[in-house]
Amino acid sequence: MNAAFTPLVLILDDDQKNLKAVPPMLEGKGKVVYAGSLEEARGALDGQTPHIALVACASGPAEAEGRLADLGMTPGWLIAGATSGQAADPEFLRGAMQARFNDILSIPPEADALHEAFDNGLRHIQGPEGAKGKVVALYSGKGGTGVSTLAVNLALALNHQGGLRVGVLDLDLQCGVVASLMNLQPTQTLGKLGDVAAGDANALRDELLSRITNHESGVRVIAAPPILHDGLNITAEMVSRVIRILRDRFDLLLVDTPKWVGDRLVAALDEADQILLVAEPLIPALAKARESLRLFSRFEYPQEKVALVFNRVTKESELQPEEAAQALSRPAYFAVPAEHARLIEAANRGVTPLADAAARGPFAKAVAGLAEKLRADLGFGAPKAQPKKRGFLFGRKAS
Ligand SMILES: Nc1ncnc2c1ncn2[C@@H]1O[C@H](COP(=O)(O)OP(=O)(O)OP(=O)(O)O)[C@@H](O)[C@H]1O
Ligand SMILES: [Mg+2]
Repeated sequence: MNAAFTPLVLILDDDQKNLKAVPPMLEGKGKVVYAGSLEEARGALDGQTPHIALVACASGPAEAEGRLADLGMTPGWLIAGATSGQAADPEFLRGAMQARFNDILSIPPEADALHEAFDNGLRHIQGPEGAKGKVVALYSGKGGTGVSTLAVNLALALNHQGGLRVGVLDLDLQCGVVASLMNLQPTQTLGKLGDVAAGDANALRDELLSRITNHESGVRVIAAPPILHDGLNITAEMVSRVIRILRDRFDLLLVDTPKWVGDRLVAALDEADQILLVAEPLIPALAKARESLRLFSRFEYPQEKVALVFNRVTKESELQPEEAAQALSRPAYFAVPAEHARLIEAANRGVTPLADAAARGPFAKAVAGLAEKLRADLGFGAPKAQPKKRGFLFGRKAS
């Protein structure tokens, strides 16, 4: 882990000033900004997004979330400062979870509890010392095959199974849909990342870590820029560096890629530990898949790096997955059934099929199965028993 990393920490207090004593208690732990009001916070942050924010919630978590929204930023780790009465109130806990807080700290805080909450947040932002996560890139040479849908739902399924820090990187820099599939409106994306000093590793790292958006499930998203132009100056070299930084931050990083072959795509595929080549079991789709496999062998990727995932499989499919796999001279890694109505409804509501608790329906069940197989094959242990409050206070149980 990069010892030079200096987290930017925002302490956003309210009229009760319960957090007044916090900055000296965090001395040496990062760059700490204390603000008694939004105006003060705005002035002191000067456009930077904090890695960790501790926000006083005397008037409730929803109000605190509103104040952060007014600041227009999504810190990487959010701690709710709650009175001891609030911290014991299930309504407050539910509200804090909905307001996307990651942890709760009783205020005024005691030094030990504060340090524990802070270190815990830092661990989640940085990843454990020396740890390297796995990178799984999903790709199809044919557009509209379901790559983004699978990336998002697979991330949710892996996260739901517990015990892993899961991120999704949307490398479809021209028409990224990950944020919208997850019903997120990120304030920070990969946009204009190319403007960050290309040679300065720390600047890129700090910048990138402040562009992570929290999904309520606990999955973290690095969204594609909403404006096409803002992604243009992200080079292939930067893509490699971004993935390496995120590999430290997550146990498992899923990368959604576009169909176009270019040096940015190749950089992402090179970095990946595993490529899921997604194809429909249809004759024209198989021709594209064969072309992709040929490309991968030209890149000298080992056979086991590429796993064939069939999507939108139906009993009436032109070919069944085994036949399609045979035609490609590769084993089928997994087959995901078509479930049109549910996915269309999910997309229209901006709610992914696995975003709510247990996997229901053939698509969600298959994705959960794919997630289990993948985590086993990547060397992660069996899924942990599902915690009651998924994603919330997740940090205290993990690592
Ligand atoms: N298993 C499935 N059953 C039914 N519909 C599906 C399935 N998987 C994906 N779809 C639908 O197919 C469409 C395309 O999916 P998606 O956008 O994920 O594909 P993509 O490969 O990422 O496309 P693009 O080339 O635009 O990036 C979406 O409407 C999605 O809901
Ligand atoms: Mg896509």
